Amino acid sequence: MSIEALQHQPPSTVKPAISFLDLKAQFASIRDELTKRVLEVLESQRFILGPEVEAFEREIAAWNSSRAAVACASGSDALLLGLMALGICPGDEVITTPFTFVATVGSIVRLGAKPVFVDIEPETFNLDPQKVEQAITSRTRAIIPVHLFGCPANLDPILAVAKGNVIPIIEDAAQAIGSRYRGKPVGNWGAVGCFSFFPGKNLGCAGDGGLITVNDEAIADRLRILRTHGSRRRYSYELVGMNSRLDALQAAILRVKLPYLDSWTQARCDNAERYRALFLEYGLQGHVRLPQVPEYAYHVFNQFTIRTLSRDALRAHLSSCRIPTEVYYPAPLHLEQAFAYLGHRPGDYPASERACSEVLSLPVYPELPPEHQVAVVRTIAEFYGR
Ligand SMILES: Cc1ncc(COP(=O)(O)O)c(C=O)c1O
Repeated sequence: MSIEALQHQPPSTVKPAISFLDLKAQFASIRDELTKRVLEVLESQRFILGPEVEAFEREIAAWNSSRAAVACASGSDALLLGLMALGICPGDEVITTPFTFVATVGSIVRLGAKPVFVDIEPETFNLDPQKVEQAITSRTRAIIPVHLFGCPANLDPILAVAKGNVIPIIEDAAQAIGSRYRGKPVGNWGAVGCFSFFPGKNLGCAGDGGLITVNDEAIADRLRILRTHGSRRRYSYELVGMNSRLDALQAAILRVKLPYLDSWTQARCDNAERYRALFLEYGLQGHVRLPQVPEYAYHVFNQFTIRTLSRDALRAHLSSCRIPTEVYYPAPLHLEQAFAYLGHRPGDYPASERACSEVLSLPVYPELPPEHQVAVVRTIAEFYGR
């Protein structure tokens, strides 16, 4: 149905029970394949690494045009393992954004290293490349750009600064599988790329899961050892590692889902376009700012995040109309209690702080019915008296 036809349906015919994310819709579409493959793994009784995980690693590496992929227990562990593989030590400094999920910064702190924050660009919510250079010191050992909400960070200028100072890049692509920067998939631009298969991600498993993409065989080798207690051979330990492996059950589920990922991503992009058209139709441009897609970006819309000065009131209105939304993120990490020891104050990273008070994520999952999008935008229009 066209936007106009949807929009001109009388409100009484639109009575959706809107979900922010409806994982059951996806499950229903692949139920038989999933249950068959899960049963096969159960029959095999091989649960830790093994052929299922190896096959998934090969398939996703090829899909992402990466030389290798090393699966692990979560996106958080992917970051931790990536930092460990690069030899990040206590006292080292790692540059990243304060407007991200806590795991980006937590992984740095867990190794005794110091997170050094750089503010974001307000348009993309990603690390501001102009501000990276001034944050570099003699102790900087890595830079972690985050491809937030599915939009790649502006990597060229970040890579230029990193290269000039011989500092490796770790891409936090947890929210951005399938996203491309200047046509090349994320996860291939730095030393390692870190992905999450948390159920709400564009490619989600049935629990926690993560993956590191890598184009350097020596780093891949180190990662494989690190995720298995630092061991290459049983009861022989080359490094101090950890236990962070993807289960065969999760790998089997992800292998079923991977072939669908491009079409699910396309559906997210279509939904984003439909929102754009609807916001325009309702004349809401002066009230909300829609997500920007820079010329270099293929944005995969893990989130469709708008900005508005009246975020809290709008959210309350939507909630009273049973329309769920989310705030990613309500506070920048430099002001969180866990990182108070770094001594930051309000005002240190103003673009991140402003984003935290203005952002609102709307439902955008692939199976989201168009009439639900109409109901969302119509309710926003109602709030602004349009
Ligand atoms: C930007 C970012 N980094 C890291 C992670 C951590 O991934 P996981 O939840 O799989 O540990 C997430 C998960 O939400 C994330 O959004």
